Amino acid sequence: MSDRGSPAGRFITFEGGEGAGKSTQIARLATSLRGRGLEVVASREPGGTPRAQALRTLVLSGAAREFGPLAEAAIFNAARHDHLEGLIRPALARGAVVLCDRFADSTRAYQGVAGEVPEEMVRAMEEAVVGGTRPDLTLILDLPAQEGLARAAARRGDGRVDRFEGEALAFHERLRQAFLAIAEEEPQRCVVIDASLSPDEVEEMILQAVASRFLLAQEQGA
Ligand code: TYD
Repeated sequence: MSDRGSPAGRFITFEGGEGAGKSTQIARLATSLRGRGLEVVASREPGGTPRAQALRTLVLSGAAREFGPLAEAAIFNAARHDHLEGLIRPALARGAVVLCDRFADSTRAYQGVAGEVPEEMVRAMEEAVVGGTRPDLTLILDLPAQEGLARAAARRGDGRVDRFEGEALAFHERLRQAFLAIAEEEPQRCVVIDASLSPDEVEEMILQAVASRFLLAQEQGA
């Protein structure tokens, strides 16, 4: 399922609820892959380009909240379109490994399942914006919602909760179930990682998942 053309890089996305440790693990995987001589582009959503970053500021401030989850889904997709065009597709086309902190599954889970935007609308936007640039591998960092929120609060300290961290526990529990359902629906793309383990153990599981999917050859020097 790729219309990227050749040579094609690898597209790995990280998904999960709040406080699952995605950014720590992306930094670790990036270091490890660079150590194997691969070009790695690490990015995040919403963000990754100046225009997408501006939309990030808008949506995470909560300014779009009163327009409802459908409008928020449209904003995340607008940011994603710019990110794909400006950063992800060019990097994949030159053969880089792209590591992305959140991608289209976050819209499915946050705006679709938890936000109750009808699934067919979420899928239609995803099809239009993502097209053939689907992740080769999605690592879902799974954690009980309460634990993730506690970690996010500890990380934040005195800082303000953002638009989604401020949602009720039930919202975050729905998110967790939504990500697990995506993994069940697309087992060939998704690997669920137990994010309650230590950072070293999580890193090891991620390396194994990446190696068994497609980087084993490089690892073994083949
Ligand atoms: P961020 O600070 O990056 O959160 P995290 O560290 O949990 O990844 O903020 C991104 C927030 O935006 C996060 O709460 C998830 C939400 N989000 C959506 O609701 N829909 C989306 O499509 C994306 C990409 C993110």
